[in-house]
Amino acid sequence: MKLRAATPDDFPFIRSLAQRPDYAPFITDEDEVALAAYLADPKARLLIAGDDAGPMGSALFCEIGDPSGRVELRRLALARAGRGEGAAFVRMLVDYAFAEFQAGKLWLDASGENLRAQKVYERAGFTLEGRLRDHWFRPVLGRNVDVMLYGMLRSEWAALTLAAPAPRA
Ligand SMILES: CC(C)(COP(=O)(O)OP(=O)(O)OC[C@H]1O[C@@H](n2cnc3c(N)ncnc32)[C@H](O)[C@@H]1OP(=O)(O)O)[C@@H](O)C(=O)NCCC(=O)NCCS
Repeated sequence: MKLRAATPDDFPFIRSLAQRPDYAPFITDEDEVALAAYLADPKARLLIAGDDAGPMGSALFCEIGDPSGRVELRRLALARAGRGEGAAFVRMLVDYAFAEFQAGKLWLDASGENLRAQKVYERAGFTLEGRLRDHWFRPVLGRNVDVMLYGMLRSEWAALTLAAPAPRA
């Protein structure tokens, strides 16, 4: 699995993930205009993970270049979830953020009901930094969910990289 920049040709794939009924409680579908805005925004990077067979997943980085040094990871999703590919996918995204953007901190949020993603983030070395209760309205559920805030500092990534270098692509 490798990462590459998304193009407009990838929008149907990206939207197909967000529109899946089993994913819709956890990620938001955005239309082609919104996705194109990310491609034009120097503070954002929309990525596709895949191999020679085609796209396998997507993710979005935001807040690149923020004076705080923090970068946000958003709307990550794999087409084949629950098959043990999450650890490698998230590790690749974490390495990308710290290497490519020189991030001082990487952060993300997750629905309090997304126990699968929470497990993958914690295993990847993220720290749970907070829980915003009853915070995020999910149209497909018709109600709010809690939001879990996760973060990883650059020093934590460096320690992680020393302890377990990323596997060769
Ligand atoms: C989040 C995502 C990328 C993780 O990748 P993945 O391939 O599904 O993750 P993996 O299969 O590698 O690992 C999932 C882990 O969660 C565990 N898990 C699955 N469902 C669970 C549940 N309901 N409660 C607790 N743990 C759960 C699995 O057992 C596994 O742990 P294990 O390796 O110890 O067995 C993927 O699930 C996905 O794309 N989900 C849909 C979109 C989404 O939720 N994105 C995140 C937005 S914050």
